[in-house]
Amino acid sequence: MKKTLFVGSLVIMGIFAGCGKEKGGETAGTVKTQILKVAFNQSEKHPQYKALENFSKNLEEQTKGAYKLEISPNELLGDQRATAELVQNGVIQMSVVGNPVVESFNKDFAVIGLPYLYDSLEHQKKVFTSDVLNPLFKSVSANGFEVIGAFTAGARCLYTDKPMTKPEDLKGYKFRVMQSDTMKKMVDYMGGIGTPMGQGEVYTAVQQGVIEGGENNEVTYVDLKHYEIAPYFSYTNHLMVPDLIIINEKLYNGMTPENRKIFDDLMKQTIAEEFTVWGENVEQAKKIATENGAKFIEVDIKPFQERVKPLQEEVANRSDMTKKIYKDVRDLAK
Ligand code: GCU
Repeated sequence: MKKTLFVGSLVIMGIFAGCGKEKGGETAGTVKTQILKVAFNQSEKHPQYKALENFSKNLEEQTKGAYKLEISPNELLGDQRATAELVQNGVIQMSVVGNPVVESFNKDFAVIGLPYLYDSLEHQKKVFTSDVLNPLFKSVSANGFEVIGAFTAGARCLYTDKPMTKPEDLKGYKFRVMQSDTMKKMVDYMGGIGTPMGQGEVYTAVQQGVIEGGENNEVTYVDLKHYEIAPYFSYTNHLMVPDLIIINEKLYNGMTPENRKIFDDLMKQTIAEEFTVWGENVEQAKKIATENGAKFIEVDIKPFQERVKPLQEEVANRSDMTKKIYKDVRDLAK
C-alpha cells in the first residue's frame, strides 16, 4: 500500500513536470501534439495494450498529430483504483479499469459484471460494439471522467492446487476476487470464500497460505505466472467482466467535433479488434502455462450457474437502469 502511494507520488511529480501545460483540451491555431497519458495495470504483451498502441498510431495519423497516447504498463502509475482518481483529477488522461472500480461510483455497474451474463465471446462482442451500455456509461460522467467503452478480458475461471469441478470442491477455499461486494458474493455463492484484494498481491498471498487461489482469465494467469503457485485451472468460465476505458471528462468534452468523431470511431474499431487479438493470446497463454506444468480442467458449469442465480436476480432488479441493461444484454444473446 505504502509502496504504491510512494511510487504514485513520484510519478505524479514527473507528470506535472513533464506536461503541465498540455492539460485540459485543445488549443486553437497550430497543432501541438497532446500526449494522453494512459495507465495500464498489465504488461506490454497484453491484448489491450496492443490494441491501445494501434489506436494511438491511428489517432495521431487521423487527427494530423493533435493527439497520441503514452501508455504506462505494469501498474507503473498505481493500481486501477488509484489511476481512476488520477484520471478524475486530470493528472493523467486515461486508464483501463476493471468494472468493479466504476461500480464503486455507481452500484448499477454491477449488472454488466454479473457471473454468467454473457454466453460467449461473440455475445459479449455484440454487446460491447452496440450502443446498449451507453445510458449506463453516461450515468457516471459527473465524477470527472467518462466511460468510453469496454474491452473484453475473456472468461475468468478458478485456479488453485486441485481441480474445482463442482461447488462442493470449493468448500473452505479462499479465492482472491476483485474488490467489490458483487465479486465476493459471486465466489461465496459458487461454494468458496471470496476474498477481495489487489491483483498484485495474489502471488504472495497464495504462497503464504493467506488464500488458496484466484480467479482470472488465461492471459493474466500466465502474465503474472500464477501457474507457479496454483497449477490447476478449472474452466468454470463464471465471469466475463468488462474492462472499462475511462477518460478525463474535460479533455474528452474539450475536443473539436472533428477530432471527437475520429476518436470515437477509432475507439469502436479498437474494441472490436481487441476481441480478435484476445482469442489468439488465449491460445498462446495456454501453451506457455501447459509447458510450465499447469493443468486445464473441463467443468460442467450448470451447477455453478444455478448457484449464482440469486445474485443475478438481486443485481438485475436493483433499479430501472439495471433492469433495462440486463434485458438489453440478454436480448443480444438470442
Ligand atoms: C483481469 C482484468 C484486469 C483486472 C484483473 C484483476 O486481468 O483484465 O482489469 O485488474 O483481472 O483480477 O484484478
